[in-house]
Amino acid sequence: MKTISTLTDNDLPDAFELEQQCHLIPWSKQTFYSNQGDHYYNLKLTIDNRIVGFCICQMVADEANLFNIAIHPKYRQQGLAKALLNHLIDQLTSIDHPIAISTLWLEVRRSNTPAIELYHSLGFNQITVRKNYYPTTNGKHEDAIIMAYTLTLS
Ligand SMILES: CC(C)(COP(=O)(O)OP(=O)(O)OC[C@H]1O[C@@H](n2cnc3c(N)ncnc32)[C@H](O)[C@@H]1OP(=O)(O)O)[C@@H](O)C(=O)NCCC(=O)NCCS
Repeated sequence: MKTISTLTDNDLPDAFELEQQCHLIPWSKQTFYSNQGDHYYNLKLTIDNRIVGFCICQMVADEANLFNIAIHPKYRQQGLAKALLNHLIDQLTSIDHPIAISTLWLEVRRSNTPAIELYHSLGFNQITVRKNYYPTTNGKHEDAIIMAYTLTLS
């Protein structure tokens, strides 16, 4: 059975393991564990009680930033990331927050076609490009694509 719910402190060891399986250059444990708390809206996706996906989203004033999303390699291309982000967007639209959240921002590596296609399929638009922003595994750098989703129109 598939469920989507809040990522809690108890979930962090499993979620961090998934982080390491999913990204070529994963976050450090310190970065992963520090991107939690009151200003975050972090979700997990489980299948049969096992965490197979998560997203990390920070809220600041009327904006939210999707810092991270990952789905276990064996569970990709089954619509799970789309389900997770649709859930996040629904929650951000209806959340009891001091100021209504108007925009969900993210940045993604130019080479990350699956993620860019995912974001386009949900209605994110490219806003700008940060040249040579991300380090790569071969010691070079690649561009970051900055994208945004307007929540008030959803
Ligand atoms: C990006 C990622 C989260 C997508 O997860 P997923 O569950 O496979 O995505 P979904 O099955 O929900 O796909 C939704 C849409 O994304 C696009 N997409 C997903 N995988 C794709 C691929 N390999 N190639 C092209 N488009 C792809 C498609 O448009 C798809 O819609 P469709 O199924 O109707 O064609 C997953 O590949 C992943 O975890 N990658 C590693 C971590 C990462 O790069 N995170 C993003 C940057 S922080």
